[in-house]
Amino acid sequence: MQIVTGWDYIPDEDHDEYLVVTNQLLDELCVPVTDNILLGKKIGSGSYSSVYEYRDDQAVKVLLYNPNSSSWGENVIQELYMLKQLRGHQNILNIIQCHNVSLNVYIITERFERTLLDAIWNNEGRRLSPEMRERIKISLELAVEYMHSKRILHLDIKPENIFVRKDESVALGDFGFAKVMNNDGEARFHLGTPQYMRVSKLTTYQKNSKVDDIWALACTIYALENEIPFVTARLIEADPELNRIQKSKAIVTEINEKLPTVTDPYLRDMLNSSY
Ligand SMILES: Nc1ncnc2c1ncn2[C@@H]1O[C@H](COP(=O)(O)OP(=O)(O)O)[C@@H](O)[C@H]1O
Ligand SMILES: [Mg+2]
Repeated sequence: MQIVTGWDYIPDEDHDEYLVVTNQLLDELCVPVTDNILLGKKIGSGSYSSVYEYRDDQAVKVLLYNPNSSSWGENVIQELYMLKQLRGHQNILNIIQCHNVSLNVYIITERFERTLLDAIWNNEGRRLSPEMRERIKISLELAVEYMHSKRILHLDIKPENIFVRKDESVALGDFGFAKVMNNDGEARFHLGTPQYMRVSKLTTYQKNSKVDDIWALACTIYALENEIPFVTARLIEADPELNRIQKSKAIVTEINEKLPTVTDPYLRDMLNSSY
């Protein structure tokens, strides 16, 4: 697969297979608007997008064209491309439609009640029930397995990017960092949120692979029952005096301290083996 870009050509000598952006591709992925897009209440925002209520039970993620960002086009196309590839899975955010108005992109999706992060921390003071935790875990494992079978890496799995429906089922969303794997099962760039990244990745440059999603999934499942991993990382993230190696040592220390409290064998194996 090779698609050529209208914004930026993305050189990538290492890889024979990659996704590149075109205006034409954007036109193919989006349908023309016939009406004004009426935005409802703002329900979220992230690094490069705002999310609004839309119609009765939908949401729209608005990605305004940013001419100053060299990666804007690539990010948008990749997010759209991934959502279209993964459409139809119960545990993955379902895209309904996409519009492109003067390069501003409107991604219309199903609307969720809350994120998993809200569910963990604002559950009216109650923790999630063991049954709900088990259901979430199975659903996310299915979502990740399906996504990997389509050769897609998410690379930013965390409770903020997992959404909860009214019926308490969950779906993985926010494919803004996602990448297509090459034949070796890798993807370029060094991505992730530090608290959900493998420790060795914090210290050395490594290409992304399935292990990164599985590690982040394990951290997410850990966060269902425990403090969000890993507190050390969060506390020291803001400290410019610490380098990556010092940070990763602090995280390893914390994982080792916490391991005895982790009872789930799947998680124990993951945390024991992956760093
Ligand atoms: N379909 C949706 N339904 C309800 N809330 C959403 C939906 N999509 C996004 N949000 C809210 O907006 C936030 C940012 O969306 P996200 O897709 O994660 O964008 P970003 O790439 O900017 O992080 C989410 O954490 C969530 O609170
Ligand atoms: Mg997000």
